[in-house]
Amino acid sequence: MADILVLYGSYRSGRMGIRLADYIVRRLQERGDAAELIDARAVGLPMLDQMYKEHAPGLAPEPMERLAGRIREADAFVFVTGEYNWGVQPGLKNLTDHFLEEWFWRPAAIASYSAGRLSGARSNSAWHAILCEMGMPVISSTLTVGPIGATLDVDAQPTGDAGKALDRAFGRFADDLAWWADAARVQRERQAPPY
Ligand SMILES: Cc1cc2nc3c(=O)[nH]c(=O)nc-3n(C[C@H](O)[C@H](O)[C@H](O)COP(=O)(O)O)c2cc1C
Repeated sequence: MADILVLYGSYRSGRMGIRLADYIVRRLQERGDAAELIDARAVGLPMLDQMYKEHAPGLAPEPMERLAGRIREADAFVFVTGEYNWGVQPGLKNLTDHFLEEWFWRPAAIASYSAGRLSGARSNSAWHAILCEMGMPVISSTLTVGPIGATLDVDAQPTGDAGKALDRAFGRFADDLAWWADAARVQRERQAPPY
């Protein structure tokens, strides 16, 4: 069983990606993982001023302190990434940038989506580089969901052929992430990270 944070960051009132985030949390929990949704809009960090580590110990705002603790505890991360104008969504990027060392030495996976058939492919690709820069090895399995509205209904249940395709892809995606989460945990126990 792995402790997995599923991070999502659209602030839009009519946001669609929450369906994919909820789907992933549910499917991971069904496998026995301790999956938790980190919804950037609900966490409500301000636009980046001071990173978590720039606050004096114990003086970071409470939501930032709590999230830092959850990131440090987690075995792996899933970034659920929509695409705005071929780029990443600012809400999730803003949350992510508040931390750095807290992310190190654990694997990340990317699940992208969009309203169209390209499934957020460009944000998927952009997040790959960002997460590697932030110390997370990114696994090669990925989920690409589009059109999101034709894949998951409002209750995050798969619909139609696109929903069936997502269900089929999920198993390998989760197996891959579980393997790397386990490998990283064993290695952290065997040998302290070098920095
Ligand atoms: C500001 C903005 C820019 C967008 N740019 C793209 C884009 O570059 N590529 C794309 O496939 N979809 C784009 N879309 C459509 C999104 O894929 C779709 O609205 C999706 O539901 C956004 O995620 P969210 O609902 O979780 O906020 C854009 C939507 C918005 C609001």
